[in-house]
Amino acid sequence: MKYVASLAAAAAILVTGGVATAQQELSLGYPLAQDSHYGDGAVAFRETLERLSDGKFTVVEHPSSALGGERDMIEGLQIGSVDLVITSSGPLGNFAPEVLVLDLPFLFRDYEHARGVLDGEIGQEMLENMRDQDLVGLAWSENGFRHLTNSQRAVDAPEDLDGLKVRTMENQVHMRAFEAMGAAPTPMAWPEVYTALQQGTVDGQENPIPVIAAAKFWEVQDHVSLTGHVYSPAIVLASPFVIDGLSEEEQGWFYEAAAASAAATRARVEADEARGIELFREHGMDVVTEVDKAPFQEAAAPAWESFIADNGDELIQRIQAFE
Ligand code: PAF
Repeated sequence: MKYVASLAAAAAILVTGGVATAQQELSLGYPLAQDSHYGDGAVAFRETLERLSDGKFTVVEHPSSALGGERDMIEGLQIGSVDLVITSSGPLGNFAPEVLVLDLPFLFRDYEHARGVLDGEIGQEMLENMRDQDLVGLAWSENGFRHLTNSQRAVDAPEDLDGLKVRTMENQVHMRAFEAMGAAPTPMAWPEVYTALQQGTVDGQENPIPVIAAAKFWEVQDHVSLTGHVYSPAIVLASPFVIDGLSEEEQGWFYEAAAASAAATRARVEADEARGIELFREHGMDVVTEVDKAPFQEAAAPAWESFIADNGDELIQRIQAFE
């Protein structure tokens, strides 16, 4: 909601001992169900902000893409029709192109590397630069390393991807990578994915274990391959219509709530990963756990070449050098 509108429409006046305090109700949108790593992050955000602000700010969660796809929600932040969003970084590159570097396949070595980069100088610079796109980056959170699912066959080498129609996020680096690896990438907003898999419009999709579990993809996909082809960050974003005009102390509450959200989400990613493979097998999925990543990495090289041709490799080198 627009800041002015949200204050006018959703503000209530709390009168405590003669002191009147405007109470502001904020919308928080995210694409997954409440029982998910994003849902845990949303609860932590809501509880922390409400506690720190002593109820001055209240948060209403809108899970399961109720406010639209990730791209729609980000646009909503820019115009003030949405207050807060937890989203993957997938569509963010369409708004803040420098974050596209994070989508390069096999860039991050492991979770420690990815979290270290995002919580360190590079990640903080990226969060600050989002101001230029009318977005307030509060904290990097997590989606996880992405893996492939499909309805056709077990995939353990790039040749198995040949001609497979794979839904990708609306992200040029992901599309280029899947094309280079031999698949037929089909970009699609998240709210359409389950039906597209069910109806066979696409054969497969790729997402981290917590997403595959939250979306119950075993209902529409038979095969999972733990390709771990790219680390997928998530981010807690706010609308400038909400943050601008707040005192420094109030802004600090939002950053603290976002840090609590990221911690809760990362903890749930770890828990979901620990039980994911067993869960998928219980639901009848065929899981390829031992995937030789080297041939996939080699096949995806053209995505790196295109990226470097357009953007140079300075950020890549800084990320790779991070210990
Ligand atoms: O695949 C996507 O679009 C994203 O990973 C998802 C599932 C919406 C989570 O941010």
